[in-house]
Amino acid sequence: MSGTLRTVVLVSGDGSNLQAILAHCVTGGLGIRVVGVISDRPGVRALDRASQAGVPALTVDYAAAGSRPAFSAWLAAALSRLNPDLVVLAGFMRILDTALVEQYRGRMLNVHPSLLPKFPGLHTYRRALEAGEREHGATVHFVIPDLDAGPGILQYRVAIHGGDTEVSLRERVRAGEHVIYPRALAWIAAGRASLKDGAVWLDGAPLAQPVVVDEVTS
Ligand code: GRF
Repeated sequence: MSGTLRTVVLVSGDGSNLQAILAHCVTGGLGIRVVGVISDRPGVRALDRASQAGVPALTVDYAAAGSRPAFSAWLAAALSRLNPDLVVLAGFMRILDTALVEQYRGRMLNVHPSLLPKFPGLHTYRRALEAGEREHGATVHFVIPDLDAGPGILQYRVAIHGGDTEVSLRERVRAGEHVIYPRALAWIAAGRASLKDGAVWLDGAPLAQPVVVDEVTS
């Protein structure tokens, strides 16, 4: 995949990752164009951020859909109308149907707030602190039907400090997501990174591990 990729961002909440991606699109060099933002909930800040950036924003309301199959069909139809090359999950809190994930295999990405394969699922900050971990972070990965299990492209790693709380850790990790998500998208748009035979390939070779970016501390 290369060229300017038509990209749809799926959101559920604040949309700070969406904002980071949009900001990089404005400054140029990402190689993607956000052609739509879809939220599974009305009234979230991410929708306002999209509108302010002049990006078509719509809600595929999970609650209004009434059932998971109805929601999935509605979302699939909304996506296909936007005809994306890439589907970017940015704080999207729904588990997608296998058929939809398969349809966009190799073209659907997610950011998860942990150093996968550690801590898939929810409450990663709390769980990392409770487990006495010395480091935590975030992973940008291709989406496969198994939750938070797709191969990782980039990770952002922070050290956990003695005084860290869920809030302080989240703040530092999220700042890192805003660095690694645009970078992963740029690699994909440039044709440098792709999913092949279940593995991430970067610059012509399979990655044994995601590329790690360490938090810069002064
Ligand atoms: C991020 O921390 C991401 O890792 C998780 O949900 C959060 C979304 O944040 N999947 P935002 O909506 O992009 O601000």
